[in-house]
Amino acid sequence: MRILVWGLGYVGTVVSACFAELGHEVIGVETNPEKVAVFNSGRSPIKEPDLDELIQQGLSAGRLRAVTSGVEHVAWADVSMICVGTPSAPDGSPVLDYIESVARELGKGLRKSDRFHTVVLRSTVFPHVTRTQLLPWLEQYSRKTCGADFGLAINPEFLRETTAIKDFYAPPYTVIGELDARSGQQVADLYQGIEAPIYRIGIEEAELIKVVNNCFHALKIGFANEIGRLCGPLSLDANVVMDIVCADTKLNISTAYLHPGFAFGGSCLPKDLRSLTFNARRLGRTLPILEAVLPSNELQIEAARLKIHEYNPRKVAILGLSFKTGTDDLRESPVISLIRQLWEDGVELAVYDPDVELDRMVGANCAYLERQLPQIPQILKTDLNEVLQGAQVAVLTKDLNGLSDRLHNKLPIIDLAHMTVTPVAEVLSRAIVEDSYAA
Ligand SMILES: NC(=O)c1ccc[n+]([C@@H]2O[C@H](COP(=O)([O-])OP(=O)(O)OC[C@H]3O[C@@H](n4cnc5c(N)ncnc54)[C@H](O)[C@@H]3O)[C@@H](O)[C@H]2O)c1
Repeated sequence: MRILVWGLGYVGTVVSACFAELGHEVIGVETNPEKVAVFNSGRSPIKEPDLDELIQQGLSAGRLRAVTSGVEHVAWADVSMICVGTPSAPDGSPVLDYIESVARELGKGLRKSDRFHTVVLRSTVFPHVTRTQLLPWLEQYSRKTCGADFGLAINPEFLRETTAIKDFYAPPYTVIGELDARSGQQVADLYQGIEAPIYRIGIEEAELIKVVNNCFHALKIGFANEIGRLCGPLSLDANVVMDIVCADTKLNISTAYLHPGFAFGGSCLPKDLRSLTFNARRLGRTLPILEAVLPSNELQIEAARLKIHEYNPRKVAILGLSFKTGTDDLRESPVISLIRQLWEDGVELAVYDPDVELDRMVGANCAYLERQLPQIPQILKTDLNEVLQGAQVAVLTKDLNGLSDRLHNKLPIIDLAHMTVTPVAEVLSRAIVEDSYAA
């Protein structure tokens, strides 16, 4: 394919050379004439291992060159890849001037061209920038219609400086956010020869994935550094601690706990977070990331409360009291906090949880429940129909398995495990599908 790469910085230079190596014809467009001259002389305008050689190979194969203006080359190309910078202003707001400047040039080129051309944004942007800013700019400057006259997709870049070429050929995956299937397919075709799964998804999800990946990496570094800061005054080797934390690939370095849902609770997580942050403060260490976890968890309970109030309910059916399926441990269950708040709001409540049998509960668990929810004997019912009777909304706080076949009325369900609101019929059909997988 013929590709125009807009911007020969850290991303664009690597992308140009690597796509040329894969056999595509590539022209790099760069407004800085010095970078263009350096590139065309067979040297990389950025420092990156093995990039000079790759550029030289592309130049001598006649598949790669750089120019200072792209307008006249748009009609030649099948695809444009926008790789210009998207810095943030001091307040965090995005500076999209470079993207707009490319859209202007690209638009002028599209105006003069009869060929179908797909515009692919590789720069990192926050959701909705592609659809609400880049698309109108392209239409305005080209006087053409996106989807009909030209395609649009986003293909976030996951390379890391210093290993950029290796990362290009072995990415974790290729993400394509597509406005339409034709645009998405054109981007997917560019990656023939790269062994990595391709995810073709909506534009906005693709925009967010890149930002979320970077934030997750930053969070991991911040977390490890906070543990390091805690280990210092304890005279502990933080690397020993983190090596062994990382050796747990079941719960720690895994997909466990990484899907949005309801707040966490139980007898361990909140207690140990409080213990760690308390002791850090005692030792003169401030750990803002870890200090923020419990307040963030509280906000998840508040979000559930607000969602429930959207129904203006007189009565709410709470399905699930303990913090997870299969246990009757109620200590620090976030459902208890939610019930207390709704109770204070004057909402009538009925609670159903087959895991919790009041007359079998003893010890700390029982004392905790009596202290937190003295009204529990009146509101906890063993009959699901009685709980649902007269309720305007049901709140599912944990896994539906086992309850699904007994949900037969028509009230809406707020599924806190997935933080979604779903009509009963849909929840039922999903539960049936899940059951059939389990079987
Ligand atoms: N640097 C990385 O490791 C990395 C990795 C993944 C994603 N990203 C994202 O990719 C994007 C590009 O990052 P970068 O580090 O390569 O930026 P960069 O600043 O190194 O390069 C951008 C280049 O675009 C050129 N340019 C600006 N306007 C132009 C125009 N109208 N036409 C042609 N060229 C133009 C600039 O002169 C510059 O050389 C950013 O959104 C960034 O967040 C960067």
